Amino acid sequence: MMRRRGLERQAALIRGTLAAVVGTAAELTAREQYVEETLRRQRAVVDSFVPGTVASEAEACLAWTAMQRQASTYLRHLQPQRDAGKRRPEGPQRAVEEHHHDLEQSLEAARSRLRSYGQASRDAASAGLGVRLAVMGKGGAGKTCISSVLARSLAQRGRRVLAVDLDTCPGLAMSLGIPPSVGGLPPEAVEQHPGAPYYGWHLASGVSPAEAVERFAFVGPDGVRFLGLGKIGSVDKEAPKRSVAALVQILLGFGLAGWDVIADMEAGPTTPFERYHSFSDEAMVVVGPAWRSAMTARRLLTMVGPRSSVIVANRFRDEADHPGLIPLVRIPFDPDVVEAERLGLAPMDACPEAPAVDAVRQLAHRYLTEEAVS
Ligand SMILES: Nc1ncnc2c1ncn2[C@@H]1O[C@H](COP(=O)(O)OP(=O)(O)OP(=O)(O)O)[C@@H](O)[C@H]1O
Ligand SMILES: [Mg+2]
Repeated sequence: MMRRRGLERQAALIRGTLAAVVGTAAELTAREQYVEETLRRQRAVVDSFVPGTVASEAEACLAWTAMQRQASTYLRHLQPQRDAGKRRPEGPQRAVEEHHHDLEQSLEAARSRLRSYGQASRDAASAGLGVRLAVMGKGGAGKTCISSVLARSLAQRGRRVLAVDLDTCPGLAMSLGIPPSVGGLPPEAVEQHPGAPYYGWHLASGVSPAEAVERFAFVGPDGVRFLGLGKIGSVDKEAPKRSVAALVQILLGFGLAGWDVIADMEAGPTTPFERYHSFSDEAMVVVGPAWRSAMTARRLLTMVGPRSSVIVANRFRDEADHPGLIPLVRIPFDPDVVEAERLGLAPMDACPEAPAVDAVRQLAHRYLTEEAVS
Protein backbone atom coordinates (compact mmCIF):
# COMPACT_ATOMS: atom_id res chain seq x y z
CA MET A 1 0.00 0.00 0.00
CA MET A 2 2.74 2.40 1.10
CA ARG A 3 4.75 1.48 -1.98
CA ARG A 4 1.74 2.06 -4.29
CA ARG A 5 1.17 5.49 -2.80
CA GLY A 6 4.84 6.30 -3.29
CA LEU A 7 4.63 5.24 -6.93
CA GLU A 8 1.46 7.28 -7.45
CA ARG A 9 3.18 10.33 -5.97
CA GLN A 10 6.14 9.80 -8.25
CA ALA A 11 3.84 9.43 -11.30
CA ALA A 12 2.02 12.63 -10.33
CA LEU A 13 5.32 14.43 -10.02
CA ILE A 14 6.40 13.24 -13.47
CA ARG A 15 3.00 14.25 -14.92
CA GLY A 16 3.43 17.69 -13.31
CA THR A 17 6.92 18.11 -14.71
CA LEU A 18 5.74 17.03 -18.15
CA ALA A 19 2.85 19.47 -18.02
CA ALA A 20 5.26 22.22 -17.10
CA VAL A 21 7.58 21.31 -19.97
CA VAL A 22 4.71 21.09 -22.49
CA GLY A 23 3.32 24.37 -21.15
CA THR A 24 6.66 26.10 -21.64
CA ALA A 25 6.98 24.71 -25.15
CA ALA A 26 3.51 25.95 -26.12
CA GLU A 27 4.25 29.35 -24.64
CA LEU A 28 7.52 29.52 -26.51
CA THR A 29 5.79 28.70 -29.78
CA ALA A 30 3.23 31.45 -29.32
CA ARG A 31 6.01 33.83 -28.39
CA GLU A 32 8.05 32.76 -31.40
CA GLN A 33 5.08 33.26 -33.68
CA TYR A 34 4.47 36.65 -32.20
CA VAL A 35 8.08 37.74 -32.57
CA GLU A 36 8.20 36.57 -36.18
CA GLU A 37 4.94 38.33 -37.00
CA THR A 38 6.15 41.51 -35.31
CA LEU A 39 9.41 41.44 -37.23
CA ARG A 40 7.52 40.95 -40.52
CA ARG A 41 5.41 43.97 -39.70
CA GLN A 42 8.48 46.01 -38.89
CA ARG A 43 9.95 45.07 -42.27
CA ALA A 44 6.79 46.29 -43.99
CA VAL A 45 7.00 49.59 -42.11
CA VAL A 46 10.64 50.13 -43.11
CA ASP A 47 9.94 49.19 -46.74
CA SER A 48 7.01 51.62 -46.88
CA PHE A 49 9.49 54.51 -46.75
CA VAL A 50 11.07 53.69 -50.11
CA PRO A 51 10.11 56.72 -52.21
CA GLY A 52 7.93 56.29 -55.28
CA THR A 53 9.29 57.00 -58.73
CA VAL A 54 7.35 60.27 -59.02
CA ALA A 55 8.85 61.76 -55.85
CA SER A 56 10.72 65.03 -56.27
CA GLU A 57 14.34 65.18 -55.20
CA ALA A 58 13.45 66.81 -51.88
CA GLU A 59 10.66 64.27 -51.23
CA ALA A 60 12.95 61.35 -52.02
CA CYS A 61 15.69 62.72 -49.78
CA LEU A 62 13.19 63.12 -46.95
CA ALA A 63 11.85 59.60 -47.49
CA TRP A 64 15.33 58.04 -47.32
CA THR A 65 16.08 60.09 -44.20
CA ALA A 66 12.87 58.84 -42.60
CA MET A 67 13.73 55.27 -43.58
CA GLN A 68 17.16 55.67 -42.03
CA ARG A 69 15.60 56.85 -38.79
CA GLN A 70 12.96 54.10 -38.77
CA ALA A 71 15.53 51.34 -39.32
CA SER A 72 17.72 52.84 -36.57
CA THR A 73 14.77 52.99 -34.18
CA TYR A 74 13.89 49.35 -34.72
CA LEU A 75 17.55 48.35 -34.43
CA ARG A 76 17.83 50.20 -31.15
CA HIS A 77 14.71 48.48 -29.88
CA LEU A 78 15.93 45.06 -31.02
CA GLN A 79 19.32 45.19 -29.31
CA PRO A 80 18.28 44.06 -25.81
CA GLN A 81 16.32 41.19 -27.39
CA ARG A 82 19.49 40.12 -29.23
CA ASP A 83 21.53 40.36 -26.04
CA ALA A 84 18.96 38.27 -24.15
CA GLY A 85 18.95 35.72 -26.97
CA LYS A 86 22.70 35.29 -26.69
CA ARG A 87 22.34 34.45 -23.01
CA ARG A 88 19.37 32.13 -23.64
CA PRO A 89 19.73 30.71 -27.13
CA GLU A 90 16.34 28.91 -27.27
CA GLY A 91 13.46 30.91 -28.69
CA PRO A 92 13.15 33.04 -31.80
CA GLN A 93 16.83 33.90 -31.93
CA ARG A 94 17.36 33.06 -35.58
CA ALA A 95 14.46 35.27 -36.68
CA VAL A 96 15.79 38.10 -34.52
CA GLU A 97 19.27 37.82 -36.03
CA GLU A 98 17.88 37.72 -39.57
CA HIS A 99 15.75 40.72 -38.84
CA HIS A 100 18.74 42.56 -37.43
CA HIS A 101 20.63 41.80 -40.62
CA ASP A 102 17.70 43.03 -42.79
CA LEU A 103 17.39 46.25 -40.81
CA GLU A 104 21.09 46.90 -41.13
CA GLN A 105 20.80 46.41 -44.86
CA SER A 106 17.88 48.86 -45.06
CA LEU A 107 19.85 51.33 -43.00
CA GLU A 108 22.85 50.98 -45.29
CA ALA A 109 20.61 51.27 -48.39
CA ALA A 110 19.11 54.51 -47.05
CA ARG A 111 22.55 55.86 -46.13
CA SER A 112 24.01 55.05 -49.49
CA ARG A 113 21.07 56.78 -51.28
CA LEU A 114 21.51 59.79 -49.04
CA ARG A 115 25.16 60.08 -49.99
CA SER A 116 24.02 61.00 -53.51
CA TYR A 117 22.33 64.19 -52.21
CA GLY A 118 24.10 67.42 -51.37
CA GLN A 119 24.66 68.44 -47.76
CA ALA A 120 22.02 71.19 -48.00
CA SER A 121 19.31 68.71 -49.12
CA ARG A 122 20.28 66.26 -46.40
CA ASP A 123 20.20 68.98 -43.74
CA ALA A 124 16.78 70.15 -44.94
CA ALA A 125 15.48 66.57 -44.79
CA SER A 126 16.84 66.04 -41.25
CA ALA A 127 15.25 69.30 -40.15
CA GLY A 128 11.92 68.23 -41.65
CA LEU A 129 11.79 64.84 -39.93
CA GLY A 130 10.12 65.97 -36.71
CA VAL A 131 11.03 65.12 -33.12
CA ARG A 132 10.47 61.90 -31.23
CA LEU A 133 10.34 62.91 -27.60
CA ALA A 134 9.70 60.93 -24.40
CA VAL A 135 8.85 63.10 -21.41
CA MET A 136 9.91 61.52 -18.13
CA GLY A 137 10.38 62.36 -14.49
CA LYS A 138 9.22 61.74 -10.98
CA GLY A 139 5.53 61.83 -10.13
CA GLY A 140 4.19 65.37 -10.15
CA ALA A 141 7.31 66.86 -11.75
CA GLY A 142 5.19 68.44 -14.49
CA LYS A 143 5.48 65.93 -17.35
CA THR A 144 1.86 66.19 -18.41
CA CYS A 145 1.66 69.96 -18.17
CA ILE A 146 4.87 70.40 -20.18
CA SER A 147 3.93 67.73 -22.76
CA SER A 148 0.58 69.40 -23.38
CA VAL A 149 1.90 72.94 -23.73
CA LEU A 150 4.78 71.77 -25.90
CA ALA A 151 2.43 69.79 -28.16
CA ARG A 152 0.06 72.70 -28.59
CA SER A 153 2.85 75.24 -29.08
CA LEU A 154 4.34 73.16 -31.87
CA ALA A 155 0.92 72.65 -33.46
CA GLN A 156 0.22 76.39 -33.27
CA ARG A 157 3.43 76.95 -35.19
CA GLY A 158 2.23 74.72 -38.02
CA ARG A 159 3.70 71.38 -36.98
CA ARG A 160 1.78 68.13 -37.22
CA VAL A 161 1.83 66.76 -33.69
CA LEU A 162 0.94 63.41 -32.16
CA ALA A 163 0.67 63.45 -28.36
CA VAL A 164 0.50 60.09 -26.62
CA ASP A 165 -0.45 59.46 -23.02
CA LEU A 166 1.40 56.39 -21.75
CA ASP A 167 0.29 56.90 -18.18
CA THR A 168 -2.32 54.55 -16.72
CA CYS A 169 -3.29 57.45 -14.48
CA PRO A 170 -4.12 59.65 -17.44
CA GLY A 171 -4.21 63.41 -17.56
CA LEU A 172 -2.76 64.48 -20.87
CA ALA A 173 -6.16 64.70 -22.60
CA MET A 174 -7.41 67.23 -20.08
CA SER A 175 -4.19 69.24 -20.19
CA LEU A 176 -4.46 69.39 -23.97
CA GLY A 177 -8.05 70.59 -23.76
CA ILE A 178 -9.58 67.29 -24.83
CA PRO A 179 -12.46 65.75 -22.84
CA PRO A 180 -10.85 63.38 -20.33
CA SER A 181 -13.15 60.56 -21.45
CA VAL A 182 -11.32 60.47 -24.80
CA GLY A 183 -8.52 57.97 -25.21
CA GLY A 184 -7.92 54.30 -25.61
CA LEU A 185 -7.93 52.41 -28.84
CA PRO A 186 -11.24 51.15 -30.24
CA PRO A 187 -11.86 47.39 -30.40
CA GLU A 188 -10.94 47.20 -34.10
CA ALA A 189 -7.47 48.63 -33.39
CA VAL A 190 -6.33 45.78 -31.16
CA GLU A 191 -6.41 42.01 -31.09
CA GLN A 192 -5.34 39.23 -28.81
CA HIS A 193 -2.28 37.15 -29.41
CA PRO A 194 -1.12 34.54 -26.91
CA GLY A 195 2.51 35.53 -27.51
CA ALA A 196 2.00 39.29 -27.19
CA PRO A 197 3.93 40.98 -24.37
CA TYR A 198 2.38 42.49 -21.26
CA TYR A 199 -1.28 41.44 -21.34
CA GLY A 200 -1.70 39.40 -24.52
CA TRP A 201 -3.02 42.19 -26.76
CA HIS A 202 -1.34 44.03 -29.61
CA LEU A 203 -2.03 46.26 -32.61
CA ALA A 204 -4.51 44.53 -34.91
CA SER A 205 -2.82 42.79 -37.82
CA GLY A 206 -3.28 44.67 -41.05
CA VAL A 207 -3.14 48.03 -39.27
CA SER A 208 0.18 49.85 -39.64
CA PRO A 209 1.30 52.41 -37.05
CA ALA A 210 0.67 55.23 -39.55
CA GLU A 211 -2.85 53.97 -40.30
CA ALA A 212 -3.53 53.64 -36.58
CA VAL A 213 -2.71 57.32 -36.08
CA GLU A 214 -4.76 58.31 -39.10
CA ARG A 215 -7.80 56.26 -38.09
CA PHE A 216 -7.82 56.28 -34.32
CA ALA A 217 -6.15 59.43 -33.02
CA PHE A 218 -8.50 62.07 -31.65
CA VAL A 219 -8.09 65.50 -33.21
CA GLY A 220 -7.76 67.99 -30.38
CA PRO A 221 -7.29 71.75 -30.10
CA ASP A 222 -4.82 73.26 -32.59
CA GLY A 223 -5.09 69.98 -34.51
CA VAL A 224 -2.97 67.98 -32.04
CA ARG A 225 -3.61 64.26 -32.58
CA PHE A 226 -4.07 62.36 -29.36
CA LEU A 227 -3.84 58.70 -28.38
CA GLY A 228 -4.07 57.36 -24.85
CA LEU A 229 -4.25 54.15 -22.92
CA GLY A 230 -7.93 54.54 -22.18
CA LYS A 231 -9.82 54.96 -19.02
CA ILE A 232 -10.07 52.44 -16.22
CA GLY A 233 -13.79 52.71 -15.52
CA SER A 234 -16.24 50.91 -13.29
CA VAL A 235 -17.52 48.83 -16.24
CA ASP A 236 -14.32 48.39 -18.23
CA LYS A 237 -11.30 48.01 -16.02
CA GLU A 238 -9.16 46.45 -18.72
CA ALA A 239 -8.80 49.18 -21.39
CA PRO A 240 -5.13 49.99 -20.70
CA LYS A 241 -4.27 46.28 -20.74
CA ARG A 242 -5.59 46.05 -24.29
CA SER A 243 -3.99 49.26 -25.53
CA VAL A 244 -0.55 49.42 -24.00
CA ALA A 245 1.40 47.06 -26.30
CA ALA A 246 -0.38 48.53 -29.34
CA LEU A 247 0.49 52.08 -28.32
CA VAL A 248 4.13 51.12 -27.88
CA GLN A 249 4.04 49.49 -31.34
CA ILE A 250 2.47 52.60 -32.84
CA LEU A 251 5.07 54.87 -31.27
CA LEU A 252 7.91 52.63 -32.38
CA GLY A 253 6.73 52.40 -35.98
CA PHE A 254 5.32 55.88 -36.53
CA GLY A 255 8.29 57.28 -38.38
CA LEU A 256 6.43 59.52 -40.83
CA ALA A 257 8.44 62.60 -41.63
CA GLY A 258 6.98 65.96 -40.72
CA TRP A 259 5.37 64.80 -37.48
CA ASP A 260 6.44 65.64 -33.96
CA VAL A 261 5.66 62.87 -31.49
CA ILE A 262 5.56 63.56 -27.78
CA ALA A 263 4.86 60.80 -25.27
CA ASP A 264 3.94 61.57 -21.69
CA MET A 265 5.42 58.70 -19.73
CA GLU A 266 4.27 57.20 -16.46
CA ALA A 267 6.13 58.58 -13.44
CA GLY A 268 9.44 57.05 -12.44
CA PRO A 269 11.60 54.36 -13.97
CA THR A 270 9.18 51.41 -14.32
CA THR A 271 8.00 51.98 -17.87
CA PRO A 272 11.39 53.21 -19.09
CA PHE A 273 12.65 49.92 -17.66
CA GLU A 274 10.14 48.23 -20.00
CA ARG A 275 11.54 50.47 -22.76
CA TYR A 276 8.28 52.21 -23.65
CA HIS A 277 10.54 55.11 -24.61
CA SER A 278 12.42 53.12 -27.29
CA PHE A 279 10.75 55.14 -30.02
CA SER A 280 12.29 58.42 -28.85
CA ASP A 281 15.35 60.14 -30.19
CA GLU A 282 15.37 62.43 -27.21
CA ALA A 283 14.40 62.02 -23.58
CA MET A 284 13.13 65.07 -21.76
CA VAL A 285 13.67 64.59 -18.04
CA VAL A 286 11.58 66.96 -15.95
CA VAL A 287 12.92 67.72 -12.51
CA GLY A 288 11.34 69.66 -9.66
CA PRO A 289 13.16 71.42 -6.82
CA ALA A 290 12.87 68.46 -4.40
CA TRP A 291 15.82 66.20 -3.71
CA ARG A 292 13.86 63.05 -4.55
CA SER A 293 12.85 64.51 -7.90
CA ALA A 294 16.55 64.95 -8.66
CA MET A 295 17.28 61.40 -7.55
CA THR A 296 14.66 60.04 -9.97
CA ALA A 297 15.96 62.27 -12.76
CA ARG A 298 19.48 60.92 -12.29
CA ARG A 299 18.22 57.35 -12.46
CA LEU A 300 16.21 58.09 -15.58
CA LEU A 301 19.19 59.73 -17.27
CA THR A 302 21.20 56.58 -16.65
CA MET A 303 18.41 54.40 -18.02
CA VAL A 304 17.79 56.31 -21.22
CA GLY A 305 21.36 55.59 -22.24
CA PRO A 306 23.21 57.23 -25.04
CA ARG A 307 20.23 58.88 -26.79
CA SER A 308 20.23 62.61 -26.39
CA SER A 309 18.51 63.92 -23.32
CA VAL A 310 17.51 67.30 -22.02
CA ILE A 311 16.80 68.34 -18.48
CA VAL A 312 13.92 70.68 -17.82
CA ALA A 313 13.63 72.23 -14.37
CA ASN A 314 10.00 72.88 -13.45
CA ARG A 315 8.14 74.50 -10.57
CA PHE A 316 11.28 76.31 -9.46
CA ARG A 317 11.10 79.55 -7.50
CA ASP A 318 14.57 80.71 -6.52
CA GLU A 319 16.03 77.32 -5.59
CA ALA A 320 19.46 76.46 -6.97
CA ASP A 321 19.85 73.86 -9.72
CA HIS A 322 20.53 70.32 -8.54
CA PRO A 323 24.20 69.34 -8.69
CA GLY A 324 24.99 67.72 -12.03
CA LEU A 325 21.52 68.42 -13.42
CA ILE A 326 21.96 71.58 -15.40
CA PRO A 327 18.64 72.34 -17.05
CA LEU A 328 18.16 73.49 -20.60
CA VAL A 329 15.34 75.67 -19.32
CA ARG A 330 13.88 76.62 -15.94
CA ILE A 331 10.12 76.81 -15.86
CA PRO A 332 8.95 78.88 -12.93
CA PHE A 333 6.41 77.83 -10.34
CA ASP A 334 3.25 79.41 -11.66
CA PRO A 335 0.02 79.80 -9.66
CA ASP A 336 -1.97 80.27 -12.91
CA VAL A 337 -1.04 76.73 -13.94
CA VAL A 338 -2.16 75.42 -10.55
CA GLU A 339 -5.48 77.23 -10.97
CA ALA A 340 -5.96 75.90 -14.51
CA GLU A 341 -5.44 72.40 -13.17
CA ARG A 342 -7.88 72.97 -10.33
CA LEU A 343 -10.52 73.98 -12.86
CA GLY A 344 -9.74 71.05 -15.17
CA LEU A 345 -8.62 73.32 -17.99
CA ALA A 346 -5.74 73.18 -20.42
CA PRO A 347 -3.01 75.64 -19.37
CA MET A 348 -2.73 76.71 -23.01
CA ASP A 349 -6.41 77.78 -22.95
CA ALA A 350 -6.73 79.00 -19.37
CA CYS A 351 -3.52 81.01 -19.07
CA PRO A 352 -1.70 81.23 -22.41
CA GLU A 353 0.32 84.22 -21.22
CA ALA A 354 1.36 82.73 -17.90
CA PRO A 355 5.15 82.68 -17.35
CA ALA A 356 5.30 78.86 -17.14
CA VAL A 357 3.36 78.46 -20.39
CA ASP A 358 5.57 81.04 -22.02
CA ALA A 359 8.71 79.22 -20.86
CA VAL A 360 7.47 76.00 -22.52
CA ARG A 361 6.62 77.97 -25.65
CA GLN A 362 10.24 79.13 -25.71
CA LEU A 363 11.30 75.52 -25.31
CA ALA A 364 9.20 74.63 -28.37
CA HIS A 365 11.37 76.96 -30.46
CA ARG A 366 14.18 74.48 -30.04
CA TYR A 367 12.21 71.97 -32.10
CA LEU A 368 11.06 74.34 -34.77
CA THR A 369 12.82 74.54 -38.06
CA GLU A 370 12.78 77.50 -40.40
CA GLU A 371 10.43 75.69 -42.81
CA ALA A 372 8.02 74.68 -40.05
CA VAL A 373 7.47 78.16 -38.71
CA SER A 374 4.33 79.50 -40.31
N1 LIG B 1 5.33 75.33 -13.50
C1 LIG B 1 4.35 74.96 -12.69
N2 LIG B 1 3.93 75.78 -11.71
C2 LIG B 1 2.96 75.41 -10.87
N3 LIG B 1 2.32 74.25 -10.93
C3 LIG B 1 2.69 73.39 -11.89
C4 LIG B 1 3.71 73.69 -12.82
N4 LIG B 1 3.85 72.64 -13.64
C5 LIG B 1 2.95 71.75 -13.25
N5 LIG B 1 2.24 72.19 -12.20
C6 LIG B 1 1.18 71.51 -11.47
O1 LIG B 1 1.78 70.46 -10.74
C7 LIG B 1 0.93 69.35 -10.74
C8 LIG B 1 1.67 68.18 -11.37
O2 LIG B 1 1.88 68.49 -12.74
P1 LIG B 1 1.73 67.39 -13.86
O3 LIG B 1 0.45 66.68 -13.71
O4 LIG B 1 2.04 68.00 -15.15
O5 LIG B 1 2.92 66.44 -13.38
P2 LIG B 1 3.23 64.96 -13.86
O6 LIG B 1 4.71 64.83 -13.80
O7 LIG B 1 2.58 64.67 -15.14
O8 LIG B 1 2.55 64.13 -12.70
P3 LIG B 1 2.18 62.57 -12.69
O9 LIG B 1 3.45 61.87 -12.38
O10 LIG B 1 1.19 62.47 -11.60
O11 LIG B 1 1.64 62.22 -14.04
C9 LIG B 1 -0.32 69.73 -11.50
O12 LIG B 1 -1.28 70.14 -10.59
C10 LIG B 1 0.15 70.89 -12.35
O13 LIG B 1 -0.88 71.78 -12.66
MG1 LIG C 1 1.23 63.17 -15.67
